[in-house]
Amino acid sequence: MKLSEIDYSNNFNDLDIDLKNYINTDNHVVFLDSNLSSILNLDENLNIFEIDINESTKGLETIQKLWSIMFDQSLDRNSKVIGIGGGVLSDLVGFATSTFKRGAKLCLIPSTLLGMVDAAHGGKNGFNNDYGKNQIGTFFIPEKILICSEFLDSLSENELNNGIIESIKAGLLGDRTILDLIYVDNFMKNIDEIIKKSVKVKNSILQNDIEESNERMFLNLGHTIGHLIEKDSDFSVSHGQAVAIGILKGLEIAETKYHLDNNVKHQFEDFLNKKSLKTDYKFSNDINYLKEIISNDKKVSNDVIKFVLIQDIEKPILIDLHINDLLEVLING
Ligand SMILES: NC(=O)c1ccc[n+]([C@@H]2O[C@H](COP(=O)([O-])OP(=O)(O)OC[C@H]3O[C@@H](n4cnc5c(N)ncnc54)[C@H](O)[C@@H]3O)[C@@H](O)[C@H]2O)c1
Repeated sequence: MKLSEIDYSNNFNDLDIDLKNYINTDNHVVFLDSNLSSILNLDENLNIFEIDINESTKGLETIQKLWSIMFDQSLDRNSKVIGIGGGVLSDLVGFATSTFKRGAKLCLIPSTLLGMVDAAHGGKNGFNNDYGKNQIGTFFIPEKILICSEFLDSLSENELNNGIIESIKAGLLGDRTILDLIYVDNFMKNIDEIIKKSVKVKNSILQNDIEESNERMFLNLGHTIGHLIEKDSDFSVSHGQAVAIGILKGLEIAETKYHLDNNVKHQFEDFLNKKSLKTDYKFSNDINYLKEIISNDKKVSNDVIKFVLIQDIEKPILIDLHINDLLEVLING
């Protein structure tokens, strides 16, 4: 499958030009996260629709709103749909575009660090329903992704942390130099390089396995435990914080199983301490509840989970782990 064409714009002025060049004369709509309307001044003639989005409105109702706008604007399969926002907006616009007349052309412009290094890439999209998060979705590769790090000037510390943890994951999976760029006094001075390198790692993994039958699962490093923490805490623990603890636990397991150098964990732990992020989590629900949550994970069959570890930096491995063994590590350390 063809991956997205990725371009980088130096600032918002360049982004405006790059977007117009992409749209050219084609029929299009631009969906903009309404929280960005005061940050980004795009040419008014760009046919922009502001969408109020957040995790609680990441559902079918918003998808229907997007579809209605696309019909009202007489889009067809050759039209271009542009989504500007974080992962919530890109997941919604990605799904709506992939299903509109069986797929129009999609361009994503991620406005969060998590979007730039992770959510906008790889074509996964989806929305939430009564059965859980992202339970309905498709794989639909954007034709174009435009990245502009000027968006990050207005992003909160918490949102920056959510994204940088995904870049650390990319560093552990495929490029140790990303870690060197992050584990410094102020990683924001290296942010453009961090983004480019993180995108490269994700895309090299995607190239071999878009539909997550094997290698793409590496991208779940830290996420199995992270999701469990998010659910156990009723989502009061942020995604980045939860995944960070998940990665840390994974590094501890790798030390026991593969004699992973304990400096890998210590450097990561130092980074978390410096950012005032927690390095441990105490589960509040009982073991049966946790077991039930893990069992619903798409990567589990017969109580065995496909679990991602690293044997060393840049050497990820997928192991079969019984969920009782995983819970033992999480609860009893
Ligand atoms: N499809 C994928 O592969 C994939 C991967 C990871 C995460 N996701 C999804 O991404 C979502 C999380 O995405 P997110 O972390 O980007 O959150 P988000 O989209 O909710 O954005 C976070 C908050 O920041 C605001 N915001 C966005 N850009 C801003 C900016 N430049 N300045 C100031 N505020 C800004 C948003 O309005 C929102 O309030 C989740 O729903 C998750 O399921 C998808």
